Amino acid sequence: MKMLQLRTRGCVFLLSYCYLRLLTVAQVTNPSEVNALLAVKNNLNDPMKRLSNWNKGDPCTTNWTGVFCHDATGIDGCLHVRELQLLDLNLSGNLAPELGQLSQLTIMDFMWNELTGSIPREIGNLSSLMLLLLNGNKLSGSLPDELGYLSKLNRLQVDQNNISGPIPKSFANMSSIRHLHLNNNSISGQIPPELSNLTTLLHLLLDNNNLSGYLPPELSKLPAMRIIQLDNNNFNGSEIPAIYGNLSRLAKLSLRNCSLQGSIPDLSSIPNLYYLDLSKNNLRGSLPSKLYDTMITDGNHLSGSIPGIFSDLRFLQRLSLENNQLNGSVPANIWQNMTSTKSSSFTVDLRNNSLSSILGALNPPGQRHLKARRQSYL
Ligand SMILES: *[C@@H]1O[C@H](CO)[C@@H](O)[C@H](O)[C@H]1NC(C)=O
Ligand SMILES: *[C@@H]1O[C@H](CO)[C@@H](O)[C@H](O)[C@H]1NC(C)=O
Ligand SMILES: *[C@@H]1O[C@H](CO)[C@@H](O)[C@H](O)[C@H]1NC(C)=O
Ligand SMILES: *[C@@H]1O[C@H](CO)[C@@H](O)[C@H](O)[C@H]1NC(C)=O
Ligand SMILES: *[C@@H]1O[C@H](CO)[C@@H](O)[C@H](O)[C@H]1NC(C)=O
Ligand SMILES: *[C@@H]1O[C@H](CO)[C@@H](O)[C@H](O)[C@H]1NC(C)=O
Ligand SMILES: *[C@@H]1O[C@H](CO)[C@@H](O)[C@H](O)[C@H]1NC(C)=O
Ligand SMILES: *[C@@H]1O[C@H](CO)[C@@H](O)[C@H](O)[C@H]1NC(C)=O
Ligand SMILES: *[C@@H]1O[C@H](CO)[C@@H](O)[C@H](O)[C@H]1NC(C)=O
Ligand SMILES: *[C@@H]1O[C@H](CO)[C@@H](O)[C@H](O)[C@H]1NC(C)=O
Ligand SMILES: *[C@@H]1O[C@H](CO)[C@@H](O)[C@H](O)[C@H]1NC(C)=O
Ligand SMILES: *[C@@H]1O[C@H](CO)[C@@H](O)[C@H](O)[C@H]1NC(C)=O
Repeated sequence: MKMLQLRTRGCVFLLSYCYLRLLTVAQVTNPSEVNALLAVKNNLNDPMKRLSNWNKGDPCTTNWTGVFCHDATGIDGCLHVRELQLLDLNLSGNLAPELGQLSQLTIMDFMWNELTGSIPREIGNLSSLMLLLLNGNKLSGSLPDELGYLSKLNRLQVDQNNISGPIPKSFANMSSIRHLHLNNNSISGQIPPELSNLTTLLHLLLDNNNLSGYLPPELSKLPAMRIIQLDNNNFNGSEIPAIYGNLSRLAKLSLRNCSLQGSIPDLSSIPNLYYLDLSKNNLRGSLPSKLYDTMITDGNHLSGSIPGIFSDLRFLQRLSLENNQLNGSVPANIWQNMTSTKSSSFTVDLRNNSLSSILGALNPPGQRHLKARRQSYL
């Protein structure tokens, strides 16, 4: 009898608020998640009153703007928030640490608001999170180490904020990450070589920051990588690792204005590379052995001649080779195959080199831009 009572009491103790409510009324949201949402609202300024319905009824069963819940109740008998979609709502204020209590959240989207303050480390508790979208705000402070533990995270967009400090080494633990967009902040220090563990990574966007140190050769181990953008950082004197020629899926490599030295490595083994921007560095030596649809290598100290081999220049967009020390003749077949081109216009800029003559006819098809006015041959 005593045992039974104890068990009953234990059972009642274990039964959650939600199961108790289930006995009498409809499904309800987990109470700590309701409190978390109220804390989120409390920390925001909402001049357009976009969240004015965040006070009546239950978040999951009445219509709270931007709150989407799982259809089925959890093991606690409660409903749980699945997505917070609060993009472009003129919200200012801060992100509440209580966001870390939305334990089954898969999407957190606050992009294009006016949020200030730092990214709460508690977000690292959201082990189901797949999309963390905070771009286009005024967030500051550094990236919390704890974000590295988001092993389901597919996309981290923090671009266009005012984030400072380094990229945490713990990011090497984001074992599902495909898009790492941290560009247009004030992130500093070395790119962690440990990021070579991110074998799912497709896009690494770190341009317009304050990164320094060297370009880690280890990034060549990322088999899925399509886009690397590191423009406008200061890798003072670093060379482009030759082993980047092993990034076999790479489509776009952009290292504009990065204080790079040395020569351009052999990238000819990358089959689908179509965009190469290495402009405004201190690169020497010759051009790559073939040209790409977009190839921007102006403002270096490149010498030698323009190669006669092309990736598939029927889709030529832009060839900017100005302000180098190129010599020899210009192979006019650069533009000879253009009649059936997909691109409506293209630019070829060869100014301020020491080129001598054009091999073939100088009559690029259509209304193309050919900026070669200051060439010695004109
Ligand atoms: C929920 O509210 C928004 C505006 O607050 C409205 O546009 C939408 O139609 C509502 N949805 C439902 C299902 O009531
Ligand atoms: C709301 O944001 C839009 C851009 O997202 C901006 O054009 C508009 O001025 C803002 N309104 C207020 C009242 O801040
Ligand atoms: C959530 O994160 C904070 C800070 O990272 C940590 O102190 C806390 O223990 C975490 N809470 C849970 C329930 O995991
Ligand atoms: C960015 O943050 C720095 C402090 O880290 C601050 O001085 C600066 O005003 C901020 N810039 C903007 C545009 O908010
Ligand atoms: C990755 O996570 C494990 C624990 O999950 C931790 O011990 C390790 O330090 C993390 N790696 C980095 C580089 O932080
Ligand atoms: C990288 O992955 C390997 C193998 O999964 C693991 O042993 C190592 O600790 C990881 N390194 C970091 C920095 O996470
Ligand atoms: C990023 O910063 C660069 C340099 O300040 C700027 O030219 C570019 O427009 C910015 N990108 C975005 C999307 O704001
Ligand atoms: C960039 O980093 C350097 C140190 O590498 C520091 O001296 C400088 O103040 C930083 N600039 C900005 C704009 O954060
Ligand atoms: C080159 O990058 C530096 C930061 O490393 C930046 O201060 C400068 O404005 C950039 N120059 C151009 C022409 O974009
Ligand atoms: C960057 O490298 C150049 C050339 O090696 C050197 O003149 C300059 O002082 C270096 N700048 C910094 C900040 O180290
Ligand atoms: C590219 O990787 C292969 C092994 O997959 C290796 O044999 C080769 O040396 C690497 N290339 C470079 C330039 O290191
Ligand atoms: C032009 O097209 C012909 C036929 O498709 C091809 O053999 C040749 O390599 C092309 N030339 C260039 C410069 O792309």
